[in-house]
Formats: sequence, C-alpha cells, structure tokens
Amino acid sequence: MRILVTGGAGFIGSALVRHLVSGIGAEVLNVDALTYAGNLASLKSVESAPNYQFLHADICDRARMQEAFASFRPDTVMHLAAESHVDRSISGADDFIQTNIVGTFSLLDTARHYWDELDARRKSAFRFLHVSTDEVYGSLGDEGLFEETTPYDPSSPYSASKAASDHLVIAWHRTYGLPVVVSNCSNNYGPFHFPEKLIPLMILNALEGKSLPVYGNGANVRDWLYVEDHARALFTIASRGRPGEKYNVGGRNERRNIDVVHRICAILDGVHSDKGPHRRLINNVTDRPGHDARYAIDASKLESELGWKAQETFETGIEKTVHWYLENEWWWRPLRENVYSGERLGVFKGR
Ligand SMILES: NC(=O)c1ccc[n+]([C@@H]2O[C@H](COP(=O)([O-])OP(=O)(O)OC[C@H]3O[C@@H](n4cnc5c(N)ncnc54)[C@H](O)[C@@H]3O)[C@@H](O)[C@H]2O)c1
Repeated sequence: MRILVTGGAGFIGSALVRHLVSGIGAEVLNVDALTYAGNLASLKSVESAPNYQFLHADICDRARMQEAFASFRPDTVMHLAAESHVDRSISGADDFIQTNIVGTFSLLDTARHYWDELDARRKSAFRFLHVSTDEVYGSLGDEGLFEETTPYDPSSPYSASKAASDHLVIAWHRTYGLPVVVSNCSNNYGPFHFPEKLIPLMILNALEGKSLPVYGNGANVRDWLYVEDHARALFTIASRGRPGEKYNVGGRNERRNIDVVHRICAILDGVHSDKGPHRRLINNVTDRPGHDARYAIDASKLESELGWKAQETFETGIEKTVHWYLENEWWWRPLRENVYSGERLGVFKGR
C-alpha cells in the first residue's frame, strides 16, 4: 500500500504514521506544514525507515499537492492535517477556516484529478479517508449517543470548520464519485499529545506543582479514545470502509473532566507521594464559551461492520499515558519551554 498521510507530525497523525510504517509495513508519505502543533520528534522511531518519507508542505498549496500526488502515486490518502484546538479557534479562527476548509478543498480537488487519471483497477481500489471529530454533532444531554446519522450542530469555530470539511468530502463523493470515507472520533489521549489539551496539560502542570485549571465545574463529559486504538481504527476504515460512508470511532469511555483530573492526580500521588495530594492544585476557572456539555459515541457500526474494537479501557490507557510523560521529558520539555507553557487560551471580553 502507498499511503499519503497529511498532518503526520501531529498527535494522532504521528501515532498513525508509526503504526503504518512499523506495524503495517506500508509505504508512507507524510505531508505536514509543521505548525506549532507539528513535531518531527514524535516520528523519531520511524524517521530512517526505508518505507517512510516526509514532505514539508502546506495542504493549501495546490501546486505542491499536485506534485506530491504525481510523484508518490498514492493508492490511499489519510487526511488529518488541521488546526485542532477549540480554545485557539475561539481566540482567532482564520487558520481554522484556511486549513480545515480551504485546505481540505485543495486536497480533495487534487485527489479527484489524480484519481480520474488512474486505470480502472487502481481507480476502484483508491480511498480518501477524511479524519473528523464527534464535535460536529454538537452537544448531548444526559442520555443518548452520537450515531452516524445524528444531524450536524457544531458549537465552536473549530467544530464548524470541521463540519464544513465533512460536507465537502461527502459532496466530492456524491458529485464526482471520489471514493471517500469519513471517520468521526471522540477525544483522543496518549503519548506525544501536545501539552495544550486537557490530559497532557494536567499531567505536566501537576508534575511541576502548578495549578490545574478545570473549566467551569468540571462536569463536562468526554468519551476518551486511546490514540493507538484510534490509529488502528483509521487503517481499518481506510482499507475496508465502504465508499461514501461515515464511521464513528469511540472507546466507550465516558468520563467527567473533573474525574479525569482526579484520576491523573491519584496516579501521580502513587509515584510522588511526597508531593501529594496533587488534587490540592485543582482550580476551577471561567468556563469555555460555548462549551459543549457531553459527547458520547456509538461505535457499533465500526465494531460490527469492520470488526474494530478499542483495546484500552480508560483506566489502562491513562495509566500508560501518565507513565509515558514521566519517562519522556526529552519530548515535552522543549515544547513547554519554547512553544507553549500552559497559559489560558480562548477567553475574550464579553462572556
Ligand atoms: N485530538 C483529538 O482528540 C481529535 C478528536 C477528533 C478529531 N480529531 C481530528 O484528527 C486530526 C488530527 O488531530 P491531532 O490532534 O493530531 O491534531 P494536531 O493539532 O496535533 O496536529 C495537526 C497536524 O497538522 C499539521 N498541519 C496544520 N495545518 C496544516 C496545513 N495547512 N498543511 C499541512 N499540515 C498542516 C500540523 O503541523 C500538525 O502536525 C484533525 O483533523 C482533528 O480535527 C482530533
């Protein structure tokens, strides 16, 4: 298999590239613009593999994308490049509109022209997987789960930009016949997670004895998915998913944010009992504007049709994750010191 991955230097993209290169043995071209969220250090374990190549390019640059398709000749595209942090989209949405919507359009149209020229056998085997989020569905009440048929109702500039890109991808299937599949997953966590997101931010702040800022009362619920389970799901969907279909990906691990933070504190108390209890560092701060109350995924289509199942429970996954941060300071220390040190993002006057 020849797989062109976009956003492979990011959190999920790097887990996917490691899985494809080392686990599957696919030929991989990683196309990434290396924004603040892109980090080639996450790909150290595969950087010299003969079946891995890196291209430093922006997906919005149509000429570079055409060259990449023409020279690499992929039979599968797995599109993950995006601006991904809700708080940053609240502070300023320009890059989200540009990469998530215009960039997806640029990649889709490049893929369509490339696909049009393939011979019949390669044409029917070609797949374009668009990796999206459960946030396109909006917020749930106390009951119910997101299904593939749940109507779109995004709340943030981030989720609205992802919803727009999902619609473009499906339209390219209905209008031009491009064999696309769309995956919508819940919140990921695990190794190599940029420390602006809830779990790595709490682990690193707690390790450094800094305050643990929990938005509002911490009752918001997310359905946590271990990133390596997600990488396996993405390969399954790209290789066996039916063209034109959507697949929800989730770990059946709903937790309130405050319970996630308590669990991290308890694991760290076990390691550094002299510095505990880490819970004393929790600080309830002003809530995120438009903060969705609950996300929960019904992944039964992916489980029954394609046979994927999450291997990690939240308890096993969070234990592995905290220990990974304890053992890999070489990876996160430069990010904390030079890229993002944990300041509050996404608040503005008037809310
Ligand atoms: N992290 C999650 O919990 C989560 C949940 C659901 C869906 N998703 C989706 O999964 C995908 C990957 O998420 P992530 O958490 O790994 O994101 P990330 O922010 O960690 O990584 C994004 C990557 O895309 C690259 N990139 C950004 N703009 C680009 C451009 N214009 N051209 C080329 N590369 C560009 C960045 O350099 C970075 O390497 C995204 O599409 C996101 O919307 C993420």
